[in-house]
Amino acid sequence: MGDETSSKIKIKCEDVWKIFGDGAEDIIKNWDQYKDMNKVERLEKTGCVAGTRQASFKVAEGEIFCLMGLSGSGKSTLLRCINRLHEPTAGKVFIDNQDITALPAPELRDVRRKKIGMVFQHFALLPHRRLVKNAAFGLEIQGMEKKEREKKAYEALELVGLKGWEKSYPYELSGGMQQRVGLARALATNPEILLMDEAFSALDPMIKRQMQDEFVKLIKKVKKTIVFVTHDLHEALKLANHIAIMKDGAIVQQGTPAQIVLNPAKGYVEEFVKDLPKTKFITAQDIMQKLDKWVMPVGSSSEEVTNKMNENNLRYIFLVDENQKIQDTVDYFNLTLLDGFFKSIEDIPKNKRPTHYPTISVSSDTFLESLLDQAADTKVPIVVNDSQGKLQGVISRETILSSLQSA
Ligand SMILES: Nc1ncnc2c1ncn2[C@@H]1O[C@H](COP(=O)(O)OP(=O)(O)OP(=O)(O)O)[C@@H](O)[C@H]1O
Ligand SMILES: [Mg+2]
Repeated sequence: MGDETSSKIKIKCEDVWKIFGDGAEDIIKNWDQYKDMNKVERLEKTGCVAGTRQASFKVAEGEIFCLMGLSGSGKSTLLRCINRLHEPTAGKVFIDNQDITALPAPELRDVRRKKIGMVFQHFALLPHRRLVKNAAFGLEIQGMEKKEREKKAYEALELVGLKGWEKSYPYELSGGMQQRVGLARALATNPEILLMDEAFSALDPMIKRQMQDEFVKLIKKVKKTIVFVTHDLHEALKLANHIAIMKDGAIVQQGTPAQIVLNPAKGYVEEFVKDLPKTKFITAQDIMQKLDKWVMPVGSSSEEVTNKMNENNLRYIFLVDENQKIQDTVDYFNLTLLDGFFKSIEDIPKNKRPTHYPTISVSSDTFLESLLDQAADTKVPIVVNDSQGKLQGVISRETILSSLQSA
């Protein structure tokens, strides 16, 4: 996703609390008295359990947001507050800027049916129904007529790789395939939002990895906003655009996978990430430098180019056209040799141009690990392009080396 300020916020939770037990409001009001107790002490004293405490987060449209934490940390409770399967004790939830917490029951039902799909850990398939009927279940509830809903169910099953299995029964499938049906059922209603609770946790490690890979590809195609609950840090790092780490009902840190891995909050999160190979999580986006010092318009004079390179102590600079596409790469040493003879770089005969360096360009989500391999093949800084080939940032060898030190 893009940066948060420019993307539309799809889901917003503001200070959401869910206390199980009587007298919950009182506990929230006097939280200071209870905050240093552990769960059991609190339960003895108050008869209540704090499922989720003061949780705030935003999910931008089209992103995967992971709630990660150990068992009992409050992930499922918070997830269920989003569509009010759990009624929040305090706080607000907004979807598309609509206050979900204030909706009367019929409207809430409408939002749930039209906008939200859920996928659970234990598939929750109907054992006596063929896959097509399982996948069509949500549509059936919506009252869609049979022919149309089965058509959509076929499409959803194809999307998750189960074409040809439509007439089978759940017991004929492996766990991974059953979870695909769960996913197809959620996708069949074409919801804008998917709430997924440990969707892949029951699968064997190998099937799980395969499902994660396919899921990432699938989601790029169907463009959903997803809140994904997992207790598996690797899974969160692999899937998420943003992660919120939960402990004892509260969110203790939020950030991109790279931010979490590189700057873990002291203590709890630090413990989680300490053994991770950092180069697998830092991306080109995280370390690239802004363009200003690295580019000049393609018509610049060699004097202008030399001056800018001197000022910034650069060995290479990129000449770009008005669309921010690289037209040439200038090597300082060649340029100074030629200086004085030509007014503009473009006046230099092609065969004498201080250029023709092959630039290595990568996309912003390339991992540092792979940048390292590529940097070995070139002295010229690596450039980061968007999908249209427009320059976004530059990564010099020095940047790569210094980011390795913090890795
Ligand atoms: N319906 C309920 N009634 C009472 N307490 C509950 C209820 N649901 C959850 N809790 C408590 O709230 C806390 C958070 O539970 P939650 O299920 O949200 O954790 P979780 O992070 O999803 O854990 P797991 O990884 O095991 O699924 C736990 O202490 C749990 O015992
Ligand atoms: Mg849970």
